[in-house]
Amino acid sequence: MSDNRYIGVFDSGIGGLTVVKSIVECMPGENIIYFGDTAHVPYGTRSKRQITEYVLADVRFLRTFDIKAVVIACNTADSVAKEKVREVNPDLPVFGVVDPASRLAAVSTKNGRIGVIATNATVKTGAYERAIAKYNEDATVFMEACPLLVPLVENGRFRPGDPVIEIVLKEYLEPLVEKNIDTLVLGCTHYPLLQEAITHLYPSLNVISSSDAAAAKMLGTLIQNGTCNENTEAAQSERKYFVSDDAEGVDNLARVFMGDELGGTFRQVDVE
Ligand code: DGL
Repeated sequence: MSDNRYIGVFDSGIGGLTVVKSIVECMPGENIIYFGDTAHVPYGTRSKRQITEYVLADVRFLRTFDIKAVVIACNTADSVAKEKVREVNPDLPVFGVVDPASRLAAVSTKNGRIGVIATNATVKTGAYERAIAKYNEDATVFMEACPLLVPLVENGRFRPGDPVIEIVLKEYLEPLVEKNIDTLVLGCTHYPLLQEAITHLYPSLNVISSSDAAAAKMLGTLIQNGTCNENTEAAQSERKYFVSDDAEGVDNLARVFMGDELGGTFRQVDVE
């Protein structure tokens, strides 16, 4: 059986493209609609009420297409509003990023000490502590809010050896390393771009990308439910990209996030 409907993916901005990249790596033939709410990025510094309102509008927009599932490609939106998305869309499979990343961290830590870096809003919800405890009740979780990382990544300052990103990363990661963590969760979909810079500074850390973990979980579920696309060729798949503001400005940065795998250009839409 083949289900050729789109997978809907959204984020506050273009960080969620790291999830699209991971989906394309595991499921190259799937058709994808991406929406980045660039008119309202960042979500990570906003209130629960405001984030929930934006997230429900993002899903309403994606549902104007024939989608078979939605991926909340934003740890902030997932931590704050996933239950509400499920409540309002009971017929739609909803995938997040927090649970798959938590599970992977919980089962792969050797010393039970896990650090999680994320936005202020994600840290405030306690979602990672709860999710990790579900899979490993003996693990100790250390959270670190990193408000400077999203703007730095969005400005292209994420490469290993870049002195600006290295100073900021040390500021945030040193307290976690001092707590003797062996595993670090990148609890924001912008952060996989920092993976190399982090590994360059702290080579022995087990670094977990919430984007890769989410894509792997989704692949497993689609296979289990028999809802994969029978097409397995990226060249035959369809990708549509939308943002709520500044489509031209986003295009270049999107290529930095996804390289040649982008396979489309951005269009601006008004979403309510
Ligand atoms: N990409 C979002 C996340 O995963 C963070 C960006 C934002 O603050 O809107 O949390």
